[in-house]
Amino acid sequence: MKIALGSDHGGFDLKNAIVAHLKQKGYDTLDCGTYDTNSCDYPDFAVPVCDAVVSGTADFGVLICGTGIGMSLTANKINGIRCALVSDVFSAKATREHNDANVMALGARVIGDCLAIALVDAFLETKFSNGARHIKRIEKIMNLEKR
Ligand code: RB5
Repeated sequence: MKIALGSDHGGFDLKNAIVAHLKQKGYDTLDCGTYDTNSCDYPDFAVPVCDAVVSGTADFGVLICGTGIGMSLTANKINGIRCALVSDVFSAKATREHNDANVMALGARVIGDCLAIALVDAFLETKFSNGARHIKRIEKIMNLEKR
């Protein structure tokens, strides 16, 4: 499984920790930057991650900024993306089971590294339920892209 990751300067250190964790677990990773702690703009890194997911180059995306909010706002503007900003394990699992989220956003200034890694593991290890009621609701979300 291939995971695309992106951060701004606020999420740079946590991104590196997550990349190392994922590699150690045997995932393929695609690091879309940023590559240093210089101040930068989170949309510039959200877009390549989301493009990789939509194109099928990556299976899932992980986006990290200070709060996770800017990254999630950006990601959810991109057709085909369902990005969930999560800070608890229950939601990280539920957004895979119920929303079939394909990108997760994390706030590096909100949560610690250990919790972030637990959230990434929960997200990546949980499958979509394929429940009819969830499929119907996801279709309603995705149809909004046609408005
Ligand atoms: C950068 O200072 C900060 O605004 C950004 O990382 C993020 O929190 C925005 O949503």
